[in-house]
Amino acid sequence: MSEVIRVEGLTKTYPLSKGSTPLVAVDGIDFSVQEGEVFGFLGPNGAGKTTTIRMLTGLSRPTSGRAVLLGLDLSRDMARIKKRIGVVPETSNLYDELTAFDNLIFAMQLYGVPRSERKRRAEALLERFRLSEKRNTLFAKLSRGMKRALTIAAALAHQPPLVFLDEPTTGLDVMSARNLRQTIARLRDEGVTVFLTTHYLEEAERLCDRIAIIVKGRIVALDSVSNLKSNAQSAGTVTVEITFSDGESGVETRRVEAQDVETAIQTALAQANGRQMVSINTLRPSLEDVFVKLTGLKAEVMLVEKGGKGGGNAGG
Ligand SMILES: Nc1ncnc2c1ncn2[C@@H]1O[C@H](COP(=O)(O)OP(=O)(O)OP(=O)(O)O)[C@@H](O)[C@H]1O
Ligand SMILES: [Mg+2]
Repeated sequence: MSEVIRVEGLTKTYPLSKGSTPLVAVDGIDFSVQEGEVFGFLGPNGAGKTTTIRMLTGLSRPTSGRAVLLGLDLSRDMARIKKRIGVVPETSNLYDELTAFDNLIFAMQLYGVPRSERKRRAEALLERFRLSEKRNTLFAKLSRGMKRALTIAAALAHQPPLVFLDEPTTGLDVMSARNLRQTIARLRDEGVTVFLTTHYLEEAERLCDRIAIIVKGRIVALDSVSNLKSNAQSAGTVTVEITFSDGESGVETRRVEAQDVETAIQTALAQANGRQMVSINTLRPSLEDVFVKLTGLKAEVMLVEKGGKGGGNAGG
């Protein structure tokens, strides 16, 4: 597998009012993304996720640091990089006054897709994103989920090997979010490398091969989901959940936390008091536990929604 993105010391500061220290939105981050993986950038509001995407896609100039995308240097080859990446921003970049079909055609014109290919490819994308029926509907008239789907379709119009998705499911209803996650999983199956930002721990856990957790412009953890979890497990405690039967009076469930599984089970069993054990479960740490452990933040900070963006949808 080759490296599709390599980032070293990437930093973005924004000047604030005169005389005050500038805001460091992204603070010297390093990471790399391998070909074909879904790489998650997980962090709360204001962590620096969008700023990072904007720098990597040529919309914002890094204050310092460097990045190489698809073998091309960000500071020298942005024009060539742009032709080979797809970008789905937080707010759609499509045109309200064009139809679904025409938006796709327009995107292909921009990316220099040969004229002879455009119509066929647009139809195929509409089909794939379940938008064929909305072919002639103005973008402005599409539902929120359809708008997001079409925005992704347009970002794929030139068949880029690398796609950036900035909070693709935020503000979508459960069904639309689920469809979108399937789309992302399918992109991965096709070998497309995906860089994805999200607030949703569960979404990151479900979709991503590796996750970087970013807080206040810094990456505080970066690993595969399973490694993040097993590290948290070895560093912390395990929980055993045990259920006893009292005969007539029903069941009681107790949770016991300990440094290791054996101790937890023994402690739990010691609470039997002659009752029969109905079930025993070892609870592995969720990504949420890992997040709390690593960041010192409550997992709820991730659920704080931005104004007007709608409710959570990590389920499903
Ligand atoms: N153009 C700008 N000028 C000044 N400050 C900015 C600008 N853009 C972003 N910031 C600040 O940089 C920090 C990081 O913002 P960014 O949008 O990258 O966060 P984010 O992780 O995408 O957050 P969210 O989850 O809310 O989208 C925030 O403190 C934000 O206020
Ligand atoms: Mg953002």
